[in-house]
Amino acid sequence: MSIVRVNVPGGSYPIEIAPNLMQQLATSIPPDTSAILLLSNPTVRQLYGDTALKALKASGKEIYCFDIPDGEQYKNLDTLNEVFTFMLEHKLDRKSVLVALGGGVVGDLGGFAAATFMRGIRFVQVPTTLLAQVDSSVGGKTAVNHPLGKNLLGAFYQPIAVDIDINVLKSLPQREIAAGLAEVIKYGLIMDREFFDWCEEFVEELKALEPQAINYAIHRACELKAQVVEEDEKESNRRMILNFGHTFAHVIENGLGYGEWLHGEAVGCGMVQAAELSALVCNFPQEDVERVRRLVAQIGCPTVAPALGGKDTWFDTMKLDKKASGGKIKFVLLEKIGQAKVQGAPQELLSLVLSKTTSAEVKASKALSSPEVADTASESRQAVTPSVAASEALSTVVDSSEAAAEVARQAQIARDAGAGTGRTGGIYGIDGVRPATDE
Ligand SMILES: NC(=O)c1ccc[n+]([C@@H]2O[C@H](COP(=O)([O-])OP(=O)(O)OC[C@H]3O[C@@H](n4cnc5c(N)ncnc54)[C@H](O)[C@@H]3O)[C@@H](O)[C@H]2O)c1
Repeated sequence: MSIVRVNVPGGSYPIEIAPNLMQQLATSIPPDTSAILLLSNPTVRQLYGDTALKALKASGKEIYCFDIPDGEQYKNLDTLNEVFTFMLEHKLDRKSVLVALGGGVVGDLGGFAAATFMRGIRFVQVPTTLLAQVDSSVGGKTAVNHPLGKNLLGAFYQPIAVDIDINVLKSLPQREIAAGLAEVIKYGLIMDREFFDWCEEFVEELKALEPQAINYAIHRACELKAQVVEEDEKESNRRMILNFGHTFAHVIENGLGYGEWLHGEAVGCGMVQAAELSALVCNFPQEDVERVRRLVAQIGCPTVAPALGGKDTWFDTMKLDKKASGGKIKFVLLEKIGQAKVQGAPQELLSLVLSKTTSAEVKASKALSSPEVADTASESRQAVTPSVAASEALSTVVDSSEAAAEVARQAQIARDAGAGTGRTGGIYGIDGVRPATDE
């Protein structure tokens, strides 16, 4: 078993990572617990409910089970209220412990239920998707959605333990694995060059969920996220770097409709776009942009974004990004692999990046989300990422010497003019509702 410790003012807790860890769930239940609520959804319950229940019984505590429906559309106040009603009807109290068994939806909603039930009860995260294991279960962000935006209602509330069983990943559809790997790569790009190199070297092992490789990747990702969260628990500053690729990703998700591309898929593509912008704004080497593009394609995520309604759609949606402040949109950009910073970018450069990284031919691809399709992963990836081929075509066009020289020229003009300092090139006023986001 490997362990990462998180130490924040809101709580100190272990993240434990191992195969079959679910069988030891009882060890995360404090002795003074009055009763346990095992919260899940029907999909995960069917796969792992019995194992979790059997393991929790070893605690000797009373256990209640409740399932919320499967899907992002149920991460809302109505579902939360159903959870509260169940908890009240079964007389759960302040000494109860909520165990959230599932992906980010169950973890986010369960965490928020724990944060608010009787002003806060203890909760344990048992994340079962790769994205939840490397991202949503770590750091204490809990939330539900509102019709006006994602994750708008929530709390920073830390679990008492995160129990990561890597064996549960075996039942995940390939697309979900790709989406989780995008977040894994993100940590290397923003914080740890060696880890990015390692991901490149072991990408096939990661895709195949080879135990040693996936265990290490999850461990390192959690360690890096914990480091950022410890510096800035409530995202006033440093924690923003975890949103690398997300400013672009949210436009894609918003434009296609949430759920068409998985969040991690959109983040994968958004990281390619953010890398391109980094090259123009902070001299991030073009060969490293290609490394990002190659690795994102290799894990099975799209590398070319849908054009949506054109550039204005992108600009307008970006105005609503949570990093926008004082009338300016900010991006997480790379100075080099392993080093990120938050800064503005002039609209001319953003426009160039969109020309290079979007295509009207890229469409949503919902049909690929079923596990059966995941078995034919290579074909699936081609379908979900018409982008890989398109991306090569686009790169060729834009990298032709004339176009490349124009890009470089405009980048230089923008840098000379003080891009990102807020003096010139400032682009966005804020006049909309902000869709709250997550890492
Ligand atoms: N709190 C944070 O910091 C944070 C960070 C990132 C994302 N999020 C949130 O996380 C959510 C997305 O999480 P997600 O990607 O895990 O989606 P999800 O919870 O919807 O899970 C994806 C699908 O996989 C199924 N599933 C879960 N585990 C499985 C397993 N082991 N085998 C087979 N199927 C399994 C689920 O039932 C679901 O159908 C979003 O709501 C997002 O806002 C939160």
